[in-house]
Amino acid sequence: ARPVIVAIDGPSGTGKSSTSKAVAAQLGLSYLDTGAQYRAITWWMVTNGIDLEDPTAIAAVAGKPEIVSGTDPAAPAITVDGVDVSGPIRTQEVTSKVSAVSAVPEVRTRITELQRSLAAAAEHGIVVEGRDIGTTVLPDADLKIFLTASPEARAARRSGELKGADVHATREALIKRDAADSSRKTSPLAKADDAVEVDTTELTLAEVIECVVTLVEEKR
Ligand code: C5P
Repeated sequence: ARPVIVAIDGPSGTGKSSTSKAVAAQLGLSYLDTGAQYRAITWWMVTNGIDLEDPTAIAAVAGKPEIVSGTDPAAPAITVDGVDVSGPIRTQEVTSKVSAVSAVPEVRTRITELQRSLAAAAEHGIVVEGRDIGTTVLPDADLKIFLTASPEARAARRSGELKGADVHATREALIKRDAADSSRKTSPLAKADDAVEVDTTELTLAEVIECVVTLVEEKR
């Protein structure tokens, strides 16, 4: 089979990561979590005391941290300047600040370049998940999926992941982050015209995976 490029976009809590990893593992493809890259650069900025209210300050250091993404779906580690940040990038602090950092054009240019070179290097193809993969990063992807789910379903899934977190607070934070990601000027969260939309509200994870695997196999 020729290398196949799959773009999976959508708001948070729609099951993008679980689906993308499982599809990649099942089909022997590489996997790239682009949200982790934006989280990693945000983690570096927080750690180095960069003023995140100031886009100019963010832009000035956007090229500094060295970000290396693992593309094995079984163990997608991510390092910043050689430090494994897979855990620290999932804190509430990073989650609440990542939209401000990812809205800065210099940050996006830099991370988009990384994403394109990783996709080009994937021998057997790759599943890339994010917000702007089908629209901006890989507009020529063989298959584009846009995952959606009701705000209630998304908040419930996220609260489950965070073990006991308040569903209402999670829902509010999630809606705020999606609104910021959808309304930014540069490469906002959006469905590509040629993407297949899959509403996961009433589907189990296994059903979503099966649906995407079938769509990929049709393209190979
Ligand atoms: O997918 P995840 O929730 O980890 O993404 C974290 C954040 O990274 C998003 O809220 C968004 O601000 C940013 N992001 C982005 N473009 C992508 C992937 C993520 O701006 N392709």
